[in-house]
Amino acid sequence: MTLSIIVLAAGKGTRMNSEKPKVFHDVGNYPMIFHVLDTAFSLKPSSLNLVISKDLNHKKKDIEKLYKKIFFSNQIKQLGTADAVKSAFNNKNILGSSTSLILYGDTPLITKQTLKKSLLKFKNEDLDISVLAMRPKDLTSPYGRLDIEKKKLKRIIEFSEASVDQKKIELCNSGIMIVKTKLLRKSIEKIRNNNTKSEFFLTDIVEIMSKDKFRVGFTECNFYEILGVNDKSDLSLVENEFQKIQRKKFLEKGVTLIDPQTVYFSYDTKIGRDVTIFPNVFIGPKVEIGDNVKLKSFSHIENSRISKNSETGPFVRTRNDVIIGENVKLGNFVEIKKSKIKKNVKVSHLSYVGDAEIGDNTNIGAGTITCNFDGTKKNKTKIEEDCFIGSNSSLIAPIKIKKRAIIGAGTVIDKDIPEGKTVYRKSELVRKNNKKK
Ligand code: UD1
Ligand code: MG
Repeated sequence: MTLSIIVLAAGKGTRMNSEKPKVFHDVGNYPMIFHVLDTAFSLKPSSLNLVISKDLNHKKKDIEKLYKKIFFSNQIKQLGTADAVKSAFNNKNILGSSTSLILYGDTPLITKQTLKKSLLKFKNEDLDISVLAMRPKDLTSPYGRLDIEKKKLKRIIEFSEASVDQKKIELCNSGIMIVKTKLLRKSIEKIRNNNTKSEFFLTDIVEIMSKDKFRVGFTECNFYEILGVNDKSDLSLVENEFQKIQRKKFLEKGVTLIDPQTVYFSYDTKIGRDVTIFPNVFIGPKVEIGDNVKLKSFSHIENSRISKNSETGPFVRTRNDVIIGENVKLGNFVEIKKSKIKKNVKVSHLSYVGDAEIGDNTNIGAGTITCNFDGTKKNKTKIEEDCFIGSNSSLIAPIKIKKRAIIGAGTVIDKDIPEGKTVYRKSELVRKNNKKK
């Protein structure tokens, strides 16, 4: 069996009420469409075809960067899902495949396992077309309904066309379909747009093929996998499901989540062994957490690597390319931006460290600020190993503080400090009597 995959992503997405194309909205900090394309590629198809509208032309480069072997086709007018599939046939490679799998760009949680199961059934039962079906929890969801007669799928009734009774059918269409390519090519031509939306519904192909006596089948899968996103409320549902999947995955891997519902992960989060995550932690994209790390409450970690035995929080923010070495302590109200913090460093309270490098064993006192921005550009701070930076110090970058330097509390530093020196500013404490009232 040679498989081509057609991913539909040309829909207007008007119900999202957004300037951003629908399929570029994020789930787990990763565009929906990339979730679908990753899954599609994992099936190793002979070709992968993405149907887009002109609204996505400016995103082509981003897509090609990640997926080199992808064929685009443009759907000129958004006349419906059948018309979208037809436009994919501009890529002649599809015709060379025996089977076509149609996926929707707005259904990001579909898994490789479910698709494989469906493809296997399609092959084993020698079907001509197979639909992936599910049962939504909420029957008011506007999914197409599967009309089954004597255990056979006769047609799909779109929600917009369904009668009150038909809307009571529990078995719904996920949108995902497997069809023999030649039959798809032929039968799609018979689809008309005589419905309330004047759209060419791909789903009508089921009735056409059934009437033509082709072998029509369906498989059922979990509802959450094929949650489709049409509006922001759907997007939040999908995000919720995605987070549930991630939490379950990490709990199974041995991560301790004290209150799982309050911890958020990204699609690419990596976590080592014996990690504890306290309630209310957010992990953004590009985060790697090493063994034995503790992320305490209100840690907001993005684009950061945190090495083993370190801890953050409560109330820590790391962002924009941060590397935290082993056995580091980032305490309450600390922000680290674009910095490298080496092993055994302590930044225990109320500090901002930006564009900096801090050497082994250095202690950064409470309220230390790296003054990295001079109003025009960002400047670097380098603090070498075994230094002691007193509380409430301002380090005006660019600046270098060499090994074993000690900075007295409340010092504004605007010159490099040599190795092993102690510096502080001396200002006298003035003491005088209050005026008598
Ligand atoms: C579709 C199905 C419905 C199913 C539901 C599952 C049809 C007619 N209906 O409805 O049975 O229950 O998905 O989520 O297929 N698209 C294009 N070009 C178009 C129109 C749509 O590329 O002209 C793309 C969209 O970008 C989207 C997908 O096709 O990725 C589905 O379109 P959408 O408008 O969301 O269909 P639904 O109303 O959700
Ligand atoms: Mg949809």
